[in-house]
Amino acid sequence: MKVGVVGCGMVGSAAAYALVMRGAASEVVLVDLNHRMAEAQAQDIRHATPFAYPVKVRAGGYDDLENAAAVILAAGANQKPGESRMELLGRNADVFAQIIPRVLGAAPGTILLVATNPVDVMTQVATRLSGLAPGRVIGSGTVLDTARFRGLLAWHLGLSSKSVHGYVLGEHGDSEVLCWSSSIAGSVRVEDLAEQMGRPLDDAAKAHIDEQVRRAAYHIIEGKGATWYGIGGGLMRICQAIANDEHAVLTLSVVNDSIEGIPHVAASLPRIIGRGGILGTIMPDLADAEHAALKRSAQVLKQAAEEIGY
Ligand code: LAC
Repeated sequence: MKVGVVGCGMVGSAAAYALVMRGAASEVVLVDLNHRMAEAQAQDIRHATPFAYPVKVRAGGYDDLENAAAVILAAGANQKPGESRMELLGRNADVFAQIIPRVLGAAPGTILLVATNPVDVMTQVATRLSGLAPGRVIGSGTVLDTARFRGLLAWHLGLSSKSVHGYVLGEHGDSEVLCWSSSIAGSVRVEDLAEQMGRPLDDAAKAHIDEQVRRAAYHIIEGKGATWYGIGGGLMRICQAIANDEHAVLTLSVVNDSIEGIPHVAASLPRIIGRGGILGTIMPDLADAEHAALKRSAQVLKQAAEEIGY
């Protein structure tokens, strides 16, 4: 599968690198305003292919995105220390207005994979600008938050993160919803399993996990200025599910007619993803408080989109 990456800073290049190391694409084309930097990123990543998979990696212009099955949109400003994702919105919406017509001019049948933050509203912006069906404009959404949640739960329980199933839904951001009530491992609710294992998930432990998931990016940005490996891995995983037509379930952001009664908003829910993009949405089984929190999250996103005219 040919994948384009527009915006070859840390996130775009980390995604390209992850695609190479996992062999999740057959060809990766890097496009950036700074073509020299795109060339350098492509050359650097190409040097990793002998240790991984024979993925064709090159820099190019928008025309080189022709026939790309998916194009990762990672262009735009990223958070500065203490800055929320929402504060990037105006600047990054302008960037998308520039790049999306050029991407679709070369690859009208592609799937747009939005990584630029605030990713949910940017997914709504990209859906409007592209005119593509909502299922072909996919935001990475809370795929990374869900991974963080599962990783922290797994650490607490002493299990592999691949054996813990729990979701983070709603905004990829401050209002996201950790769905404790439906989180399981070994077919047992995580709270019950924790008791069984003598590692109770008491309020303090749950509050710690919540803070570490919800504020993860802020902590990392304080230390190194930005995040890129986690999201790069998440973008690779989404491309892998598309390339292999997996019908996998991932928490991804897509424009919905309604989420918890909030009309026309993009937020993360469990989505079925395959070669054609989003193939379906699973309405999660949530506790009343989680439904209310998901509604609040959708309201935050709806208001942010309306403030910039989407
Ligand atoms: C993070 C960025 C991708 O959460 O928003 O790391």
